[in-house]
Amino acid sequence: MASHAAASGRKGWRMSFCLSNPLPCARALSPRGRSMVNNLKSYLRRAEFAALVAMPVLLAGCNPADFPASTFAPRSDLGHWVQGVYLETIVWDSLILALICGLIFLLLTRYSTRAREDQPGPPPPHGESIELEIAWTAGPALILLFIAVPSLRIVFRSQPATPPPHSLIINVTAHQWWWQFDYPGLGVETADEVHIPVGRPARFLLNSADVIHSFWVPGMGGKRDVIPGHVNELTFTPDTPGEYIGECAEFCGLSHANMKFRIFVQTPVDYANWLANQTSGPRNANQGAAAAGEHVFLTSACTTCHAIKGVSSGYIGPNLTHFGSRTTFAGSIYVNTPANVAAWIEDPEALKPGAQMPPLGLRGKELDQLVAYLESLK
Ligand code: CUA
Repeated sequence: MASHAAASGRKGWRMSFCLSNPLPCARALSPRGRSMVNNLKSYLRRAEFAALVAMPVLLAGCNPADFPASTFAPRSDLGHWVQGVYLETIVWDSLILALICGLIFLLLTRYSTRAREDQPGPPPPHGESIELEIAWTAGPALILLFIAVPSLRIVFRSQPATPPPHSLIINVTAHQWWWQFDYPGLGVETADEVHIPVGRPARFLLNSADVIHSFWVPGMGGKRDVIPGHVNELTFTPDTPGEYIGECAEFCGLSHANMKFRIFVQTPVDYANWLANQTSGPRNANQGAAAAGEHVFLTSACTTCHAIKGVSSGYIGPNLTHFGSRTTFAGSIYVNTPANVAAWIEDPEALKPGAQMPPLGLRGKELDQLVAYLESLK
C-alpha cells in the first residue's frame, strides 16, 4: 500500500516535469505516457500553424478607419518623415534579426555536439576575446546611432530656427484636462478643436497652465512635451483635408486619458469661412429658450470661469464664444449634443473624473434654457 502511494507520487512529479521538458522524458515514460507527450507536441504544432494562418487573415480585417490614432497613415510632411525613419529602422532590424537567426540555426545544426556525462562543460566565455567584446559593444552602439541621427534631424526640422514663410501660428495652452487654442492677431480662441488650412505650415507654440502634458496628433506625426513656464514648438504642413484626432501623450493626472482634441484640416476656402465666423462675435440669442438661457448664464457662476465675447470674461475654463460650432466638448470626448451638454452641466465629475468644473445645481427648465443658449453660439 505504502509503496503504491510512493509510486503514484513519483508518477505525478514525473508528469509535471515532463510537460515542461517533454523530450528527455518521453524516453523515460511508459509507451502510454510517450504517446500522450507525442499527442501534446502534435497539438502544439497544429496550434502554431493555425495561429500563423489566422494572423494575416485577422490583420487583413483591420480597417484603418477604425484606428483614427494610427501613425501608419501620415497626412503631413512631419508624419511622412517619421514614417520614413520608422520603416527604415524596421527593414534594417529585420535584416539583423534574419542574420542572427540564420547564424543560430547554422551553429545548432552544423557545429553542435552532444556532451557526454563524464565530460566537463565548456569554459566560461568571459574575457576570452577582447576583440569580440569590443565588437558586441560597438555593434549595438552603431545601430543606436544609425537610428538616432535621422530621428534627431526630424526633431530639428519640426521646430526650425527660421519659421517657414506664411506659417500659421497657434498658441496652445494645455490644462488639466483640455486644450486651449489661440490664434494670435486674429482674436480667435477655441477649445479642444483647432482648424488649420491644408498645405500651409502650422506652427504650434506649446505651453502648459499646470503640469507637463504632451501634444500628439498621430496622423500629423511626432509628439512634443508641453511644459509649464516654457514654450515648445511643433511645426508641420498638413497635406490632406480631414479630421484628425489628437491626444495628451504624457500622464498628467486623473483624466489624462480624457484629454483629447481634434485638428480639422480644411481647404483654404473652408478655413477662410470658418475663420470669418470665429472672428465675428457670437450669434445674438434674442428670442425663445436661448434668450432665456443667456439670462441663466449671466446670473449663474458660469461667468466666473467662461468667456463669451461681449458677454462674459472668465478665463479659467474654455472660451464658449462659438461653443455651438464645435462637434465635441470636455476634452473632445463627448459629441456636442444638447443631451450630453445637459448631463455635463448637471454633474461634470460623473462624465469626466477629476473635472474641475463644479456642478451648478441647475435643473429642469433653467438647465434646458442654458443648453439651448450654449448650442445657439454657432
Ligand atoms: Cu495631459 Cu495627459
